[in-house]
Amino acid sequence: MEIFHIGAECYPAAKVGGLADVVGALPKYQSNTETQVRVVIPCYDNTFRKENNFVCVHWSTLQLGKFNFPFSVLKETSDKLGFELYVIEIPELFDRPNIYSYKDDIERFLSFQIATLDWIIGRGSVPDIIHCHDHHTGLIPFMITYSYKYEKLRNIATVITIHNALYQGQFGFDKLHYLPEFDLVHVNVLEWGNCINSLAAGIKCADAVTTVSPSYLNEINYSANGLESLFQKVRYKSKGILNGIDDDIWDPEIDPMLDVNYNIETQEKGKRENKEQLCARFNLDPTKPLFSFIGRLFDEKGADLLSQASVLALSENSEAINILVLGSGNIEIENQLTELSQDYRGFFNVFIGYDEVLAHKTYAGSDFLLMPSRVEPCGLNQMYSMRYGTIPMVRRTGGLKDTVADFEDDGNGICFDQASVENICDAIKRALKLYEDQSSINKIRIKGMNTDHSWQRVCQEYIELYNLIITKRNEN
Ligand code: GLC
Repeated sequence: MEIFHIGAECYPAAKVGGLADVVGALPKYQSNTETQVRVVIPCYDNTFRKENNFVCVHWSTLQLGKFNFPFSVLKETSDKLGFELYVIEIPELFDRPNIYSYKDDIERFLSFQIATLDWIIGRGSVPDIIHCHDHHTGLIPFMITYSYKYEKLRNIATVITIHNALYQGQFGFDKLHYLPEFDLVHVNVLEWGNCINSLAAGIKCADAVTTVSPSYLNEINYSANGLESLFQKVRYKSKGILNGIDDDIWDPEIDPMLDVNYNIETQEKGKRENKEQLCARFNLDPTKPLFSFIGRLFDEKGADLLSQASVLALSENSEAINILVLGSGNIEIENQLTELSQDYRGFFNVFIGYDEVLAHKTYAGSDFLLMPSRVEPCGLNQMYSMRYGTIPMVRRTGGLKDTVADFEDDGNGICFDQASVENICDAIKRALKLYEDQSSINKIRIKGMNTDHSWQRVCQEYIELYNLIITKRNEN
């Protein structure tokens, strides 16, 4: 079986969030003698591109309405990733340092999708499965189904995985002519909410729709930024498959990014030493419990609650705690947190930005990881934290609900119901009680470290889904 994963991010080549971790790990675990797995992402002007070797396997010019963009397909040559990585180089549109947030993102990602399909059709052999990730690749199932140009790709079975339904890639019908020609009787397939909606089109046209956790699949039936009724309609072809984590990379015993490596037997000492280093760097006190937050600073993640919750928790607990926040995003939130770090020197600190090494060190050196998300399609951080013996404190939503149970119910973490300052502070109080009893803490840490979050278990579910949709196609 030949599988193409297509997305905007793939770790380690390009990462903003969890999407990259999934697109960089699932393919690796799917690859074996029977499955050839290839990943396609745009080529960004970043360190990975500069520091790795690529060969050009295809070049041509793509057409986007009346614009023409030369592009090349480059294959990464190291063999280190565990799958074949291809990057589509469209210099005019992607030769920039960031992945998203440009005015022409619609043109950029649509061109990427067109170039990918042009290349696949040019290769001669067609894959069995095209697996799209999020709205940046949502128009691929539509183009395969309806564009005259891609008629030879009609038989490919397609899957779209929803990592986050909040972002949908909408644009106006004035850009309809960007899409390669198709019979206009099908134009309504592109439409949702009076505009072209890339994610909705992908959901309508794909053979299967997956979400990154079973609970998120239930939630989007009543909360999905306008797509609720569409999700209800496609329930028959939808499945929630919980993400795994790459436990080769996320292993405290061998992780080269840590100051000190440790395993279940040595966790107490190992975590203490990592905490000392981390606290020294951020001017925090290693004798006090350390609560961390790692992630994008957006309301969706509950990041807007962090500064108020920190102030309250510090005052309620006579400053007997440390809080560390790593992330970037909303400027207002960034500013609030930076101010707080000045006002509460020695108790609260923030690192604005994204630093993979620091994230690993923080999972290892923290006692608790805070995830007060309003929406969390899966969440990987709670799984990373458990693997590193750090106790997750999560709001019961989406994938957090599917992976963390409260310690009072014999679980592996601390859970709360509302994304609110009060709920966060109550959870911190419960955490502090727990912290007083080292043997309970150790028990929960070890339970987390022993939990199997591996992709091995999960990736078979995807293979079964691929087989099912291929069989269904052959029957029709
Ligand atoms: C998105 C979601 C997150 C999920 C990740 C990987 O970033 O917000 O919950 O874990 O994708 O699927």
